[in-house]
Amino acid sequence: MSIEQLAETALAMVAPGKGIIAIDESTGTIAKRFAGVGVENTEENRRAYRELLLTTPKLSDYISGAILFDETLRQSTKDGVPFAKYMADNGIIPGIKVDKGAQALAGCPGELVTEGLDGLRARLEEYYKLGARFAKWRAVINIGEDIPSGTCIDANAHALARYAALCQEQGLVPMVEPEVIMDGSHDIDTCYEVTEVTLRSLFASLYEHNVMLEGTILKASMVLPGTTSGDDASVEEVAAATLQCLKSTVPATLPGIVFLSGGQSDEAATAHLDMMNRMGPNPWPLSFSYGRAMQQAALKLWSQDIAANVAAAQKTVFERARDNGLAALGEWVKAA
Ligand code: 13P
Repeated sequence: MSIEQLAETALAMVAPGKGIIAIDESTGTIAKRFAGVGVENTEENRRAYRELLLTTPKLSDYISGAILFDETLRQSTKDGVPFAKYMADNGIIPGIKVDKGAQALAGCPGELVTEGLDGLRARLEEYYKLGARFAKWRAVINIGEDIPSGTCIDANAHALARYAALCQEQGLVPMVEPEVIMDGSHDIDTCYEVTEVTLRSLFASLYEHNVMLEGTILKASMVLPGTTSGDDASVEEVAAATLQCLKSTVPATLPGIVFLSGGQSDEAATAHLDMMNRMGPNPWPLSFSYGRAMQQAALKLWSQDIAANVAAAQKTVFERARDNGLAALGEWVKAA
C-alpha cells in the first residue's frame, strides 16, 4: 500500500463539509444504549439499527465514512447486501474499530490501558479484505487526584503508535483516538494540560514508530471543564482552548482532525465544532466523528416503534449529519 493511497483515503475522510459517524459500539456498549431506551439487545436488533443508520437517504452529502464494530462489518442489509458493499456503493468509506477495549493498568490505580495488539496484523488483513479502509483505536485518559500518570499516558501512546504502524502496513488509515475523559471535577485548564501532554506523547510515539502522518487521522477530545466541576465554559472559550492546544501539539502535515462528542449534548458538540471553524483558517480540516451526538435522537425515536419509526429516525440522523457537516465548514446556524 502506498502512502499516496493512504493519504487519499485520509483526505476523503475529512473532505470539506463531511465527517464520520461512529457506530462502532461493542456488543456490551450497545447493550447499555439499547437498555437505556428499552430495546432488546439481539443480533437482529443490532443489525436492523445499524441498517437504519447506514441506509439513511443522502447520508453521504455530509458523511464521508462510518466506523463499524466487527459484528457489523460481517452483517448485511435485509436485502442481503453486505454493509461494507452498501457503504462503498453509496459513497461512505467503511471503517472498523480494532481495539479490544480499555483494561485496568497494573500498578496504576484508576488508570486504563487499551488492549488488542496481539494478533492485530492478521485481523487487519482480514478487515481490509472485508472492505474496511480505515480503523480506529481508542485510548482512555482519566483525570482525577494524581492522575493521569506519565506511565498511563506513555503506555497508551505506545499502543496507539504500534496499532497505527500496523494499520498502515496493511493499507488502512489509522484513526488515533486518545480520549481525555470529561468526567470529573477538574477545571478547563487541567483538561488543557492533560490533553497537551497526551498529544505530545502520542506524536512522539508515532514518530518513533515510523507512522506516516500524511496517512493518519487524529480523533481528539475537546478541551472542556470536568462535568462535575460546576464550571461553565462558553462556546468561544472551549473552541479557543481546544484550538490552542491542538496548534501547539499537532503537526501541520496531518490531513485532518475529527472530534468525538464524549457525552456533550448534541447542540454543544455542534456549536463547539462550528466555532473552531469560524475561528480559522486552521492548519488542518476540523470535522467530527461523533457517536452519541449523531445517534441519540434517532435511537430514542426508533425505540418507540422499531418497525414503524425507521424513516422518522433516519430523518433525525440526516439532520444531525447536516448540522455537523455545516459546523465542519463554520456555517452552522442554530435553529431558532
Ligand atoms: P462519542 O461521540 O459518543 O464520544 O463516540 C465517539 C467514539 O467513537 C468514541 O470512541
